[in-house]
Amino acid sequence: QDDEEGVVYTVRAQRGKTEIFDGTETETYGYNGSFLGPMLRLEKGDNVKIRTINELDEATTFHWHGLEVAADVDGGPHDALEPGEEKVIEFEVTQEASTLWFHPHPHEKTSEQVYNGLAGLIYIEDENSKSLGLPTDYGENDIPLIFQDKIFDEEKQLNYSAAKNDDGTIGDTLLINGTLNPKLTVNKEKVRLRLLNGSNARNYTFKLNTGDSFVQIATDGGFLNEPVTLNEVTLTPSERAEIVVDFSQLDTEKDLALINEDGSILLPFEVSVQSETVSRIPGLMNDFSLTEEEMDLPVTKKIELFGMMDMVTINGKKFDPERIDFTQQQGVTEVWEIYNKPDMMGGMIHPFHIHGAQFKIISRNGEAPPENERGWKDSISVSPDETVKIAIQFKNKGVYMFHCHNLEHEDNGMMGQVKVE
Ligand code: C2O
Ligand code: CU
Ligand code: CU
Repeated sequence: QDDEEGVVYTVRAQRGKTEIFDGTETETYGYNGSFLGPMLRLEKGDNVKIRTINELDEATTFHWHGLEVAADVDGGPHDALEPGEEKVIEFEVTQEASTLWFHPHPHEKTSEQVYNGLAGLIYIEDENSKSLGLPTDYGENDIPLIFQDKIFDEEKQLNYSAAKNDDGTIGDTLLINGTLNPKLTVNKEKVRLRLLNGSNARNYTFKLNTGDSFVQIATDGGFLNEPVTLNEVTLTPSERAEIVVDFSQLDTEKDLALINEDGSILLPFEVSVQSETVSRIPGLMNDFSLTEEEMDLPVTKKIELFGMMDMVTINGKKFDPERIDFTQQQGVTEVWEIYNKPDMMGGMIHPFHIHGAQFKIISRNGEAPPENERGWKDSISVSPDETVKIAIQFKNKGVYMFHCHNLEHEDNGMMGQVKVE
């Protein structure tokens, strides 16, 4: 980072070896290191320059998931860098404080490269986020948690082709921030957890083992207007939620942990001393709104998600890099209706994602979305037979992907393109 020329980062996609299991080296991919990546810290209004370098021995792209940037720097499948190539991209940060991420997106290879370890975080801050008084001590009371499941072979290697399932590769081993069996040490205070489901296909429902509640403060693309008290939050692949757990209010004599829907322990906590830090959760955090006008707009784009395994389609079609599926005018809000059509087996959840924009959920099956989805989103869970209406506007021009973020579905062609003119 060099302030004189704005924010400058170098991001290298690399191969490496990581000691995930004691005494064994696993071959992995990473950004600026052997596994996962750095956190890129940006501020609204920044002019950002990122030098991207492909040091892998296969093509890759650098996609900024959730960032509202022009399509030519978005890093979709049209933007492949061959081994040894580099590209400098520039953009201005025009969106509000949020937790975004970045990962590769090469044609039919996204799932394998993410699986091998290519994923990093982007934090955007703004005047609002800096004045709210929320926990902001990175690694202390403001902690990113990237959840990914993997399958290791007998040699403790990530053998993607052996592990791969066309319906989404589900692993038997959970890694959090690339670590096996981590324990999180926290103080007896309010702790902000920035949860990212970075898995290829697995969904998580996060709860506290004691049944205590926590609050959700942010969705994919920004703060909720008000904190929403929850006992659990479900994230499908690529979705984020920022939650605050108030350890000063929990019975720390008990073993505390974040658990999944089935009760399995995801992350045990170790609560140490009483903290001096006084952070707060303000009652009002944002001014997100879905206007009457937006709610009354007619549906102008329809998306039908269908199928399983390698038979997945969008509107009956598979991805064709040469085909533009939709066009939309820059700066014009349209309503997209996304329907998950069940098949004979019942179907499955498809996490639907659109590049280059944050959108608003108007309704789920005609009903207002739950309170913790009344904020900016770039990925949404769509259940079988569910219809979701969203209002979306693109700030920039170019060709953007929309797809299922079950990464095997994406690579199996569950993706289309919208051209913003
Ligand atoms: Cu997370 Cu097409 O992206
Ligand atoms: Cu994306
Ligand atoms: Cu899918």
